[in-house]
Amino acid sequence: MLAFTPSFAALVAAAAALVGYAQGAAAPAPADYLIVGGGTAGLVLANRLSEDPKVHVLVLEGGGDGLGNVNISDFRRVGAAWGTDIDWQFPTQPLKYANNRTLTPGPRGKVLGGSSAINGDVFDRGDAREYDQWEVLGNTGWNFNSLFPAGQKSEHFYPPPADSDIEYVLSHHGTTGNVATSYSRNAPPIHDAIISSVANSGGFKSSDLEGGNATGIAHVTNARLPSNDTRATSATAYYFPYSYRPNFQVILHATATRILWSSTDEENAVASGIEYVDQSGVTRTASGKTVVLSAGTWGSPPILERSGVGNATYLSSLGIKSVVDLPGVGENLSEQTLVPMQWQLNSSLPLGDVTPFLLNVESVQTTVGPANLATAESLLNAPPPNLSPALYDAHKRLYQNHTTWVEDYIAVSTPAEGPSVLVMYPVNLHPLSKGSVHIVSSNGLEYPKIEYNFFQNPFDLFLMAAGCARAQKIASTPPLSDWIVAPIAPAANVNTIDALQDYVRSNAAYTNHIIGTALMAPRQDGGVVDPHLKVYGTKNVYVVDASVIPIEPAAHLQGTVYAFAEHAATLFKQ
Ligand SMILES: Cc1cc2nc3c(=O)[nH]c(=O)nc-3n(C[C@H](O)[C@H](O)[C@H](O)COP(=O)(O)OP(=O)(O)OC[C@H]3O[C@@H](n4cnc5c(N)ncnc54)[C@H](O)[C@@H]3O)c2cc1C
Ligand SMILES: *[C@@H]1O[C@H](CO)[C@@H](O)[C@H](O)[C@H]1NC(C)=O
Ligand SMILES: *[C@@H]1O[C@H](CO)[C@@H](O)[C@H](O)[C@H]1NC(C)=O
Ligand SMILES: *[C@@H]1O[C@H](CO)[C@@H](O)[C@H](O)[C@H]1NC(C)=O
Ligand SMILES: *[C@@H]1O[C@H](CO)[C@@H](O)[C@H](O)[C@H]1NC(C)=O
Ligand SMILES: *[C@@H]1O[C@H](CO)[C@@H](O)[C@H](O)[C@H]1NC(C)=O
Ligand SMILES: *[C@@H]1O[C@H](CO)[C@@H](O)[C@H](O)[C@H]1NC(C)=O
Ligand SMILES: *[C@@H]1O[C@H](CO)[C@@H](O)[C@H](O)[C@H]1NC(C)=O
Ligand SMILES: *[C@@H]1O[C@H](CO)[C@@H](O)[C@H](O)[C@H]1NC(C)=O
Repeated sequence: MLAFTPSFAALVAAAAALVGYAQGAAAPAPADYLIVGGGTAGLVLANRLSEDPKVHVLVLEGGGDGLGNVNISDFRRVGAAWGTDIDWQFPTQPLKYANNRTLTPGPRGKVLGGSSAINGDVFDRGDAREYDQWEVLGNTGWNFNSLFPAGQKSEHFYPPPADSDIEYVLSHHGTTGNVATSYSRNAPPIHDAIISSVANSGGFKSSDLEGGNATGIAHVTNARLPSNDTRATSATAYYFPYSYRPNFQVILHATATRILWSSTDEENAVASGIEYVDQSGVTRTASGKTVVLSAGTWGSPPILERSGVGNATYLSSLGIKSVVDLPGVGENLSEQTLVPMQWQLNSSLPLGDVTPFLLNVESVQTTVGPANLATAESLLNAPPPNLSPALYDAHKRLYQNHTTWVEDYIAVSTPAEGPSVLVMYPVNLHPLSKGSVHIVSSNGLEYPKIEYNFFQNPFDLFLMAAGCARAQKIASTPPLSDWIVAPIAPAANVNTIDALQDYVRSNAAYTNHIIGTALMAPRQDGGVVDPHLKVYGTKNVYVVDASVIPIEPAAHLQGTVYAFAEHAATLFKQ
């Protein structure tokens, strides 16, 4: 039940109830689960927990409901929502290792559905060996065998029309889940050429990357209802159809600032609720028996820090009393990087506005090629300065076992006039460079300081340059080469690893796949939550969002976030 939307009267009534509580009038019963953030993961958890009518779930969401906003529902408007009022627009620090460039503020959904409402809507999952590394890091029960069925539980796959030339394997998908997934229409003729050129230059064609083997080139699905071409978000999939449940409540425009504690006993801190600021700037409180942070990779750690959970030395410098000394909070920020590369094609392709998306995932060994392998190995083996031995070993295992490491996203665009442009985006899937997100004051509404640290580790830069060289090789291999008139960027003479490293430094950007800042890992390795997602040193505070994910998938992130949240809900219900 939407406690106060879209009706303003209902909003005022619900707010009044909470004001009453804040002022000491009869307090409403605490929710069984108080969830901060009605985003991708938060609404999955809220939905599953509220399946039991005896369990009262209350969600505090910083944004509105997004109903009627075509920038959400119409996937053709991808990107339109960025920079609008449903985007948090997190400013980030200059890239110290990439020409000190300052990137456009990082988009994050500030609306019911969270980032699933403003993302690129590509929906895919990673490789079994990547998920298995979660468990190797010490997270018992988190592996491909648990995450694959959880991912299927989240997915309602719609096969392409019978006359489509897009291949798929039905058993790699879920067919009765909540999130609609479907392919765009028929692939344009150049896609066959792209697939053949990848295979002809050392890569692999795959029929479907979603079954646990993510190596190869294939079409991937989008989170999209094929019947009317609308985007599926966690709100359309997990909230709106269930909002009739009286025990599933959402308070909109509620920006959580800190956790309220009923006890701050050392190693046994007990939360009683959340302090939040409403739309008119009034500070209010909501109470809960269990507090779950689902405010996202940049949203959840600041709430912990303001509540005294974090690096005690640092927090004391801001005048915040330590509740749990947990230095991993806000550290280990991991983000895949991409760099765009463009080629002029010989013709204007009949793409319409629904070009299907090709994903090519391959190992570092394939990408780097024999000539550069020794350099890559030596860079990998130079111990990274800001990575724990456990996480470093997990990354090395993925590399040495020829697991997916670099991928090319491939798209074709048709400008309003003139021939089409082929775009490839080499991506470093498992960067060794890690960044951080930390509050800069105790002010609950001040944005945190975010450091990506892209290319702090030279291996990451080398891999991206090698990925560019690999994309150039694909483009110059027949039959794709027959379609290409000339490179647009980088220019044809930018073709050595050194020159391509410069190109990457000047042009690389984020993929929006941030993870790791409330890491699920043993506490001695910088972990913030245990395998039950409970914050160390607390009795009843949990984190359920992308910030706990320890290893990126060889995919876009949301399919993994949905799988993660479904598995989290199963653990909560046990
Ligand atoms: C621009 C963009 C493009 C992307 N493209 C793709 C793609 O094409 N395919 C793909 O698979 N993945 C993509 N991703 C990644 C994917 O969408 C995210 O990884 C995923 O949605 C994150 O889920 P989450 O639950 O961790 O956080 P979110 O979905 O961001 O949810 C966090 C929620 O918490 C709320 N919140 C935050 N702070 C507070 C607070 N203090 N008080 C109350 N509420 C708060 C937010 O408003 C939001 O609703 C993209 C992401 C972005 C941002
Ligand atoms: C949709 O996006 C456009 C472009 O960013 C913006 O001008 C417009 O205000 C947005 N619409 C809504 C409802 O936010
Ligand atoms: C980057 O900017 C910082 C702060 O402005 C400055 O101290 C540093 O020297 C710059 N580094 C480079 C490589 O330009
Ligand atoms: C994964 O798929 C690729 C391409 O189809 C194939 O060559 C490779 O052997 C497969 N790997 C595993 C581990 O099954
Ligand atoms: C698209 O279809 C779904 C399912 O039938 C429906 O819930 C939704 O309202 C439709 N959206 C639009 C914009 O037509
Ligand atoms: C904690 O913060 C202090 C002060 O900012 C810093 O010097 C120290 O390195 C941090 N500790 C950890 C483990 O990150
Ligand atoms: C996480 O970051 C902290 C602080 O930088 C570091 O000490 C720890 O080793 C990191 N954890 C992992 C698993 O890398
Ligand atoms: C490769 O994978 C196997 C099986 O998962 C594992 O036992 C081995 O340690 C891995 N290799 C390396 C070098 O880590
Ligand atoms: C572009 O090249 C491809 C491959 O050679 C060819 O099939 C196609 O007809 C060409 N288009 C034009 C307009 O020449």
